[in-house]
Amino acid sequence: MTQADQRPAIDPRPLSSYVAWAGNRNKGPILAVFKEIFPKSGDALELASGSGLHVKYFAPHFPSICFHPSDCDADVFGEIKSSRSGDRNANVVDPVLIDIMDPATFPNPKYLLFDVIFVINLFQVAPISIQEGVARLASSALAPDGILAIYGPFMLDGEYTAASNEAFDKEILAAGVAEWGLKDIRDLEKAAARFGLKLARTLDLPTNNFILLFNRLR
Ligand SMILES: C[S@@+](CC[C@H](N)C(=O)[O-])C[C@H]1O[C@@H](n2cnc3c(N)ncnc32)[C@H](O)[C@@H]1O
Repeated sequence: MTQADQRPAIDPRPLSSYVAWAGNRNKGPILAVFKEIFPKSGDALELASGSGLHVKYFAPHFPSICFHPSDCDADVFGEIKSSRSGDRNANVVDPVLIDIMDPATFPNPKYLLFDVIFVINLFQVAPISIQEGVARLASSALAPDGILAIYGPFMLDGEYTAASNEAFDKEILAAGVAEWGLKDIRDLEKAAARFGLKLARTLDLPTNNFILLFNRLR
């Protein structure tokens, strides 16, 4: 049986078997990159955490980083909190409600600036304005030397980077939800630039995904 055969049908709901399948497949390669780029200590904010699968997996590898999960859907918070018991994952704080589309829900930069902000597998199942939202939030909440890491499949210069991404995009578009679909790295760069951020690195990950690393323009 091939991996594609085992893949559940696309379903972006945070606790779906599809999202768990994708997370279990990508968490190892993402961790390998994060081990290279994360600071030794500090605060890391995850946007759109869903079930919290990634913070649960990453936290033990970064004992001096405090992980801050978040989502716009408070119904997932119980699942995120379930990763902690006793000392296990004590460096994961309670999830907070952040809607990337609503600046009123953004963290208050007077209290804390984040060394890292990351978001995994959201852009392809979100409206195009998600780019502006993430850039706006990062411009307000990132520490001066902070990094924004965005993981997922993307287009580049209006082209698919692989046949598998084209097939995936067609599958997402077939769901009939307006504005879903793969976003273009160039559009993300433009949105980031409007908020004083620049694309510093584009990292290739398995199965034609990327990690896009942004930092503040100097
Ligand atoms: C496909 S799931 C991905 C979850 C997780 N990042 C992962 O890879 O397993 C998308 C998540 O994005 C959240 N989400 C969607 N729109 C959002 C928004 N505007 N602001 C914050 N979270 C959002 C959903 O509630 C859901 O938990």
